[in-house]
Order: sequence, then structure tokens, then C-alpha cells
Amino acid sequence: MKGIITAGGAGTRLNPVTLALSKQLVPVYDKPMIYYPLATLMEAGVRDILIISTPLDLPQYERLLGDGSDYGLSLHYAVQQAPQGIAQAFHIGREFLAGGPASLILGDNVFYAHHLPAQTQEAARRNDGATIFGYKVRDPERYGVMEFDAAGNVISLEEKPENPKSHYAVVGLYFYDHRVTDIAAELRPSARGEYEITDVNKAYLEMNRLRAETLDGVDWLDTGTHESLLEASNFIRAIEQRRGMKVACLEGIAYQSGWITADDLVRRATQLGKTDYAAYLRRLAEGTK
Ligand code: DAU
Repeated sequence: MKGIITAGGAGTRLNPVTLALSKQLVPVYDKPMIYYPLATLMEAGVRDILIISTPLDLPQYERLLGDGSDYGLSLHYAVQQAPQGIAQAFHIGREFLAGGPASLILGDNVFYAHHLPAQTQEAARRNDGATIFGYKVRDPERYGVMEFDAAGNVISLEEKPENPKSHYAVVGLYFYDHRVTDIAAELRPSARGEYEITDVNKAYLEMNRLRAETLDGVDWLDTGTHESLLEASNFIRAIEQRRGMKVACLEGIAYQSGWITADDLVRRATQLGKTDYAAYLRRLAEGTK
């Protein structure tokens, strides 16, 4: 399965930080934000990935991540001329997907959980329909919201409703079958002028091919405000210090998945200079982590 990361958008809520820097390049503790969603896709087993951003910001992502070979990936890049909605990713990515299934992750969605890979790998293996994930939040009106019936089936989906029908937000991680490109091609912009990802999910719901799972025991970190961003950084720092490991270490995931070798890790550590991150890669290569 191929993957897409949306790393564009206006990102004005973090100004002045994002006046001259793309939101998804802002650090979450010790690495750029985009490392986290990229790691989530990698852990789902997705290796062929398209990164979409603004004309101005896309070169920065290419400089940061290159062709992906450092991480055992094949990375591709495409411009979104204007932020006309998340589902536009499937218009832009049409040739890249070539009629195949697709996973999509929003470039500002940071997850932390031990068992998430098992859940996402299974979702990536399903070849019929779509899989989305619900997460219980205090402020569902900020998100896409899913409503369940007593049997746990999704009965409605709404984008940023004024009166949410549940506390379950739809997180920014989606797995779709081969139908997704055609479904996205049929969309019309919403009242706010965007191609809505919620409308893609509604199309699957109407076809009775939408599977929704809840994310229990997963931390979905908010990166939307300065306050929540600092909290996310502190959270990652606490885990890394406590456990002596790095969360969303792309080279580490690639090595553990058998996509790169210990020699690759050491080479990469040399490139990264005298940093904790490089030292961690060396320890991984030596098998002491
Ligand atoms: O985070 C989960 C939520 O993400 C979902 O619950 C909502 O259903 C979904 O619409 C989305 O809502 P947001 O308002 O948070 O999306 P936002 O506009 O912030 O965009 C999310 C990411 O996608 C962010 O990294 C910017 C990028 N993006 C966004 C748009 C609209 C693009 O690359 N291009 C775009 O046109």
C-alpha cells in the first residue's frame, strides 16, 4: 500500500512561528513534526510515500528527507498550489497511486502507542473499503466527529459540527481501498471551499464499506496551539528520557524492519554529527539499545 502525507495548509494558528516555517517542520521536542506521521506510516508497513506541501515549503521537505533511502523508503514530492482541502491530496496523488489503495496521514498528527502498529498493519492489509479511527476528546467540535449506534457501527460523520453527536474525533490517519481516487474525483468543495476528507469517509459510509475502530491506549497529541505543542514536546521528552529510546526514529524503524543495515545506521550517525540522535543510532547499530 502507498501512503500520502499532507504537509501544506495555512498553519496560521502558530504564528509568528509559522510565518516563515511550515507547521510540520516545527520541532516536537527533538525532531521535526513530520517525523512522527512518517514514522506512523512506516510502522504500518508503508514504504512508498508522497509528501504534499505548498510551492514555497516543498523544497524544505525534500532537503530534510531526500529520496527516502536513508530510511529504506521511496519518497516522492508534489505541490499543492493552494490549501483547498485534505481530500485534494487524492487529486494531486492520482498518478502516484495509479488506481491502487492508499493510506493518508495528516502531517501534524502525532501518535504515540506501543500497539498502534499492529492495528495499522491490519488496516493496511484490508483490501476492501476504508478504515478510520476514533479518539475520545474533550472538544470534538474542532474535528471530524463520528457517531456510533449501540452495536458500535458508525451512523454519521460530520466535519467540525457545532453540536457534536459524540466525543469521538476522527483522527488524521486513514486507510482506503482502490476506490479512493475516483471517490475523491467526484467531490465538490464544501461550504468553506475545501475538498473535505470527511466527505470521502461519508462516501464509504454510504457504500457500507466504512470500518471505524477506536484508538484505546493510544496517545494522540494535539499540535494545534503553542500550549499543546509544548505539552507534546514535554510528553515525548518524558518518554524518551524514561525509556532511553527515541520515539519516531525513522532510521531505527527502518533498521528494525530490515530495510536498512547497521552500516547504514552508522553512516547516518556520522552525517548527523555530535547529537543524542546520532548516538542513539550508533547504539542501535551496536545492538545495545
Ligand atoms: O487532525 C484531525 C482532523 O484533521 C480531522 O478530525 C478532521 O476531520 C480533518 O478535516 C482535519 O481537520 P483540521 O482542521 O485539523 O485540518 P487542517 O486544515 O489543520 O489540516 C490538517 C493537515 O493537513 C495539516 O498538516 C495541514 C494539511 N493540509 C490541510 C489542508 C486544508 C494540507 O496539506 N492541505 C490542505 O489543503
